[in-house]
Amino acid sequence: MEEIIGVHNADKTCWNCSAAKIRGNVDFRGCGQSRMIVPKGGEQQIMIECSRRPELGLFEPSITFEQCPEWTLTEYGYMLKNMRVMILGIDGYLGWTLALKLGRLGCQVSGIYIYKRRDCVMEKGSHTAVPIAKMTDRLHAAKEVLDIDINFRRMDIRARTKLKEFMEEEKPESIAHYAEIPAAPYSMVDAEHAIEVQNNNVLGTLGLLFVMRDVVPESCLLKLGTMGEYGSPLTGRPLFEGMFPSEAVLQWDDREWSLGGELTPRDPQSFYHVSKVQDTFNVYEACKYWWLRSYDIMQGVIYGVHTDEVSADPRLRTRLDFDEWFGTVINRFVTQAIQGIPLTIYGEGRADTRDDCS
Ligand SMILES: NC(=O)c1ccc[n+]([C@@H]2O[C@H](COP(=O)([O-])OP(=O)(O)OC[C@H]3O[C@@H](n4cnc5c(N)ncnc54)[C@H](O)[C@@H]3O)[C@@H](O)[C@H]2O)c1
Repeated sequence: MEEIIGVHNADKTCWNCSAAKIRGNVDFRGCGQSRMIVPKGGEQQIMIECSRRPELGLFEPSITFEQCPEWTLTEYGYMLKNMRVMILGIDGYLGWTLALKLGRLGCQVSGIYIYKRRDCVMEKGSHTAVPIAKMTDRLHAAKEVLDIDINFRRMDIRARTKLKEFMEEEKPESIAHYAEIPAAPYSMVDAEHAIEVQNNNVLGTLGLLFVMRDVVPESCLLKLGTMGEYGSPLTGRPLFEGMFPSEAVLQWDDREWSLGGELTPRDPQSFYHVSKVQDTFNVYEACKYWWLRSYDIMQGVIYGVHTDEVSADPRLRTRLDFDEWFGTVINRFVTQAIQGIPLTIYGEGRADTRDDCS
């Protein structure tokens, strides 16, 4: 591993580590619900305890990943050894491939699944071009072929009591949240579909945030947003991420208007994309109120069906959809090209978030 120079997360500290339990003066912004008594140190000093190294007692969160023996160097950067990761939506296109990848890297993987995606695709009269095995067969194959044990439960993410029990059992240090309905066209079918997508996505995520607060507040949430949250800005301005800096101003109507500290604008293009924007605000608020840790990833469309792990056995494969509701544009083009059918171009063929479901 010595040849890896400038590892991207080598200088991250306990602040970014889900083994760190904050014990200091966390008096957070507006709501104040997270106010805690400082057990040691000064009034403003943040102190932590390490759940993996309790012998350190209380200390300031300044140890870097490079310095800490609990973090190990991998080809993807530093990783918490044997990290407990829970994947919500583990049966999905991304959830399943990630489960196998992390299992191979030595993580203790758990997950929840229901067949929502399979049911939605079936409802529209389609199917995945790559046949996929039942979840139980996938899990057996993961053990047999890759020697990976995955602890899983069949449950809806909105079943909060069950989710809470599972989290209490697993105590995940990291949570990858994929358990949403990921299709713009599907969310635009009619009122029932729009309501179902928003109910599933927005309320699922909101409930999860409360479960995290109550059971694993130090855990790290990896939440999949989408590039479609930004829409296609008409002005051609660049896409800023995060918050506007404090000095940011808008010049309009001969005046300057402050934008400082606001989340950068969103312009969703479907009720599915609206659900992702609502998620962003809910995750942001939960982090603000309770100091949860999260990465809200504005993910572009992901293609392909190959990783070393899913290719190791036919029972381990992940799905490939090509229909107009769940298929993404390159999947459709590839499938049409293989069949010798003309490619269906949307409108003038320009890049547009409506071309694609994610
Ligand atoms: N695939 C992409 O290119 C892409 C791009 C941007 C964002 N995303 C986001 O990444 C996430 C995963 O995408 P994917 O392509 O793997 O989709 P997917 O539909 O294959 O995976 C989602 C999984 O979550 C499950 N699920 C849905 N609702 C659930 C619920 N209420 N309770 C429990 N499980 C539930 C589904 O059954 C499915 O197995 C989604 O949130 C999606 O919006 C994906």
